[in-house]
Amino acid sequence: MTTSRNTARQGATARQATAQDREKVAADVRRAVEDAIWAPSVHNTQPWRFEAHGTRITLSADPDRRLDVADPQGREMLISCGAALYTLRLSLRRMGYRPVVHPLPDPDRPYLLADVDLEPGDPPDASVEHEHAQIRRRHSHRGGFRPEPVPAGILTTLRHAAEKEGARIVQAVDADVKGALAALTAAAEHVQRRTPAYATEIARWAPAPGTSRRDGVQEDSYPRRTPPTAPHFPARDFARGHGWGAEPPGEGAAGVVLLLVTPDDTPADWLRAGQALQRVLLRATEHDLAAAYHTQALQVPDLREFIRTQFCGDAHPQLLLRLGVPVGTSLRSVRRPVDDVLTQTGPA
Ligand SMILES: Cc1cc2nc3c(=O)[nH]c(=O)nc-3n(C[C@H](O)[C@H](O)[C@H](O)COP(=O)(O)O)c2cc1C
Repeated sequence: MTTSRNTARQGATARQATAQDREKVAADVRRAVEDAIWAPSVHNTQPWRFEAHGTRITLSADPDRRLDVADPQGREMLISCGAALYTLRLSLRRMGYRPVVHPLPDPDRPYLLADVDLEPGDPPDASVEHEHAQIRRRHSHRGGFRPEPVPAGILTTLRHAAEKEGARIVQAVDADVKGALAALTAAAEHVQRRTPAYATEIARWAPAPGTSRRDGVQEDSYPRRTPPTAPHFPARDFARGHGWGAEPPGEGAAGVVLLLVTPDDTPADWLRAGQALQRVLLRATEHDLAAAYHTQALQVPDLREFIRTQFCGDAHPQLLLRLGVPVGTSLRSVRRPVDDVLTQTGPA
């Protein structure tokens, strides 16, 4: 009698523990997605969806949020989702899980980007904690940088960060190369401003002030006037002549000019590029550096091809960035609520 009562009690305790475990996993998954949505994304489209079933999280791209004109292949959409995937992995590691990622698990479903299985892992070390602390500190910059050079040791750290995710950083050191990249950016920006389809697409993702939307590049995310740098990399025309934008910061330098490149140009490379981007950005943020993005030329196929053949060796350019300690206060950006992007079902 006593024995069977003990067994029944143990069974109830085990079931309770399992229910508690399930609740904990569900809460941890939610926290990880709450972190992941702070990743950067092209025009703040936030083109991701997360589905969690027990200990599996599935990341998909949301093609309704793709830039059909500037990004018809969805390359930048996948880079953005890759940045969210890296953030998700980091957040899970910080909670003591070992995230096991199966990228692009079904060739018949190209928007299904990754299954992530949660395995028990090690307690996080200080470097994971430190990197995790940068997730909400990281912001895109749209202006100049302080003139002091970025120390070589930090650039080496960033190079390693990119390589760990299967990408590479190519730094434009030569003044002529920097000048050429700035000129190509200007040419692409010119083409995009003059092409109605591009301009309409920018308008869709740069809402007027006062909007209640929680996506897009909003008025306090860009300066009213972009201070010139030498060489000058033109900014996107988010204000479209309306005079919108935050108080402009003072003038600064162009900063370190970098291309993030991958060995090939497949969806798997784009996903890797995004993970590398976010790993680099978070390590950079630890040193109070920020990045400005100039992806206009990479959205114009002929110019992207020119950059590839002239400046990237055998690799494929995925992002063009300027990096440094920003001049001025950091700009703000918004995110959709986690319930808009996360569906949770099922047992752990
Ligand atoms: C693939 C990609 C391309 C981007 N291209 C540009 C760009 O050309 N110009 C720009 O100002 N910002 C660009 N951004 C930055 C996004 O606009 C920014 O991440 C988004 O607005 C969210 O703001 P946050 O990074 O400050 O959180 C890009 C970001 C990604 C991931």
